Amino acid sequence: MKRRTFLKGAAAAGAATLLPSSLLGLAAAGCKPAPAEASAASWNFDEILDRSGTWSIKYRRAEGDKLAMWIADMDFKTDPVVSRALRERLEKDALGYTYGPEEFFEAIVGWEKRQHGFDVPREWVEYAPGVITSLCQIYLAFTAPGDKIIVQTPVYDPFFRYAEKLGRIPVENPLVWQDGRYEMDFAGLERLYDKRVKALVLCNPHNPVGIIWPKETLVKLARWCAEHEVLVISDEIHADLALYGKRHAPFCSIDETAAKIGIQLCSPTKAFNIPGITGTAYAVIPDPVKRQHFHDTLENAKLREASIPTLVATIAAYTHEPEWLEAVKRYIEGNISCVESFFAEHECGIRPIRPEASFLVWLDCRKLGLPQEELVSLFNDKAGVVINNGAGYGTGGEGFIRLNVGCPRSVVEEALRRIETAIHA
Ligand SMILES: Cc1ncc(COP(=O)(O)O)c(C=O)c1O
Repeated sequence: MKRRTFLKGAAAAGAATLLPSSLLGLAAAGCKPAPAEASAASWNFDEILDRSGTWSIKYRRAEGDKLAMWIADMDFKTDPVVSRALRERLEKDALGYTYGPEEFFEAIVGWEKRQHGFDVPREWVEYAPGVITSLCQIYLAFTAPGDKIIVQTPVYDPFFRYAEKLGRIPVENPLVWQDGRYEMDFAGLERLYDKRVKALVLCNPHNPVGIIWPKETLVKLARWCAEHEVLVISDEIHADLALYGKRHAPFCSIDETAAKIGIQLCSPTKAFNIPGITGTAYAVIPDPVKRQHFHDTLENAKLREASIPTLVATIAAYTHEPEWLEAVKRYIEGNISCVESFFAEHECGIRPIRPEASFLVWLDCRKLGLPQEELVSLFNDKAGVVINNGAGYGTGGEGFIRLNVGCPRSVVEEALRRIETAIHA
């Protein structure tokens, strides 16, 4: 049976639950956002989105009836507020050279304040040409060949892959599992430190383990990095997807020490499901010397020009009431519950670790006792569920799989059935 046909039949009807805007923390907002033009009827996360013919990377690896549950984008339609703004802009038929308007920066400042309680002065914000592109530019501008960069594995692999490609030395400080959750290993930082360590990449919230770092941990990290003159590059791309009422703490908002040594890289692409609009990001850099250096680096590489879709999408996403975003987060929580209850009911050697943010579930499969290659093949080939190999995220990822549940619930349910069947086959 063709995948699309099968899934259409399996999809349950029903619209997402909406939260009243009074519960969204908007009352505390400095600048009042425009009301969302979308209504509950405008989205239905149960709907199977046909991504054929859209050049989707995710589906390029999902041949036949395989389920694509790997790379981090969601199989939901983009927030209609964002799509509408893009359509309206295209209607003008004016796609000439464009500068970054003040509205772009105002939208970011307003969003940081309302969403994260962070009062960011406008001058701290710089346009950034994508999170990883910017990370690479920071590596080049703030460190020298042969310098060491700390990554806390298991972690988003481009952090260490690009450090290596650019002639820097990534040094792993693996997270530790303590009292039922992942923690940073401060003793490990002490052990690995030498004078060649110049930067640390913080994944905040953490991909793939899903942690929203507690403020106390960030304070401690900032102090350690300041004492050792280590730059902190905080990747906060998953920040707007904080789940279960948890609050994300932006690194540069923590205290003066963090503000002095930190560069925050943020983006609306994950939360609003627009990662195909590449180059959509911004940096928050409180320290004026670092900010100027970042600015000049991008200027010299001719990377400071945001595209029209980037500007329009960011302004639209950040200036409307986040009704769609709240609804999608509730839906993701439902999908995570579905994974949790399935593996609780069907004892098959897999233990999901609940993410505190985003739509990626870290599955502990160590009880299956399979070599990593066989584990990956069990999912990809036997079950037909295309996932990310935990070992790809560095030390600590062996025995784990990353499952993307940013998709209709019927797909999650089908994937779980297939995984269980493959294990018992
Ligand atoms: C932690 C993290 N950082 C960065 C990115 C990619 O960011 P960009 O597309 O802006 O380079 C991803 C995408 O999955 C991610 O998970």
